[in-house]
Amino acid sequence: MRPYDALRDLPLGENRGFARVREDRISLSSAHAVDARPLELTVVIPTFNEALNVEPLLAALDIALADIHWEAVFVDDDSPDGTADCVRAIGRTDTRVRIIHRVGRRGLSSAVVEGILNSAAPVVAVIDGDMQHDETVLPRMFEAVNSGNADIAIGTRYDAGGSVGEWDDKRQRISNIANNLGRFLLHTPLSDPMSGFFVIRREAFMKVLPDLSMIGFKILIDIIASSKETLRVIEIPYQFRNRVAGESKLDTMIVAEYVALLVDKYAGHILPLRLMLFLMVGGLGVFVHMSVLAGVLWAGMTFAAGEIAAVGAAMTFNFFLNNVFTYRDRQLHGWKVLTGLLSFYAVCGIGAVANVGIGIWVNGQDGRWWVAGLAGVLIGAIWNYAASSFVTWRR
Ligand code: GDD
Ligand code: MN
Repeated sequence: MRPYDALRDLPLGENRGFARVREDRISLSSAHAVDARPLELTVVIPTFNEALNVEPLLAALDIALADIHWEAVFVDDDSPDGTADCVRAIGRTDTRVRIIHRVGRRGLSSAVVEGILNSAAPVVAVIDGDMQHDETVLPRMFEAVNSGNADIAIGTRYDAGGSVGEWDDKRQRISNIANNLGRFLLHTPLSDPMSGFFVIRREAFMKVLPDLSMIGFKILIDIIASSKETLRVIEIPYQFRNRVAGESKLDTMIVAEYVALLVDKYAGHILPLRLMLFLMVGGLGVFVHMSVLAGVLWAGMTFAAGEIAAVGAAMTFNFFLNNVFTYRDRQLHGWKVLTGLLSFYAVCGIGAVANVGIGIWVNGQDGRWWVAGLAGVLIGAIWNYAASSFVTWRR
């Protein structure tokens, strides 16, 4: 008996639940027979809190991929619900099932990349770990890539025959806007550029790897937008299923990360995304500065007092905003916030001195006051950016 055989006869709805499946896992203990064919396909499955979905998904893959020599690589970001342990429990008897367990890190895109890099197969599939993607179309996707007809096969919810299932209006609208924005900015003729369900030839992936942004949720858009050559794409429609167990991780921060990814793909070759964010935060800091200055003057205090208060407020404001947005991936917590803030004051203090010094120097050379002023601001800002990334938010 092959592993998961006992699950084959269960109606689809019933084999989706860890508790339910455990009672029936008779065959899971019998070791999987080693496949003599060379490995053909690695299925990469990013997970965060998907414990209840692990076993049903593997059972479904085992059925769908019966004619392919495949393996599964789960990439789990230390899910509190013990997803990683569920995978390991199965991996002990079924050596096709492996895990990369990442601690202290989050991110769907980077998880997918790590999964792909930890496998040997010439073709790789990426599928969500929550059973919302229809694994039964995987053989067709695999065939399209393996035969050499395409570099990448994308499961699409929008083409004829595809569907998003029962989505509420709000989610449908958000998805449409994000799709159109992506299409518009990236000039991709894809019907579902947001898809997280695709099969790619390793060679094609390795070529784009150095140019990936790996920001946030949308690895497919990242791959397509980063590719210098045109990838040969085949789209295969499927029906997006509703989630049965666990919950979606899509939130506002993920939408923000999506916008960041688009900006990086669109303009990242001109200015690095982080510098852009840093400058935007700095721009907001100017408003804070002027408001505080106005407030202090209005209260009848001296200009010098106003400037001191304004500089302090602007620096503090910039520090916290940068900590949340610009350096989200290296965010300081607890006591480190305090030492970080102090180091940021020091960095910006030197930046201010440089700002004034450069301004005076350029003014002596050029004579136009506004050129001198802007030169000082620019050099000061770049100093602040570079120095704070090495000192305040060092890796
Ligand atoms: N390792 C890891 N780290 N996995 C993650 C993380 C993370 O930070 N966040 C989410 N995942 C896993 C989930 O456990 C799931 O297996 C998969 O990534 C997708 O996450 P969901 O939270 O289920 O996303 P969704 O259903 O809202 O979004 C899906 O559909 C979108 C289309 O609207 C994904 O396929 C998206 O890629 C797709 O764009
Ligand atoms: Mn999902």
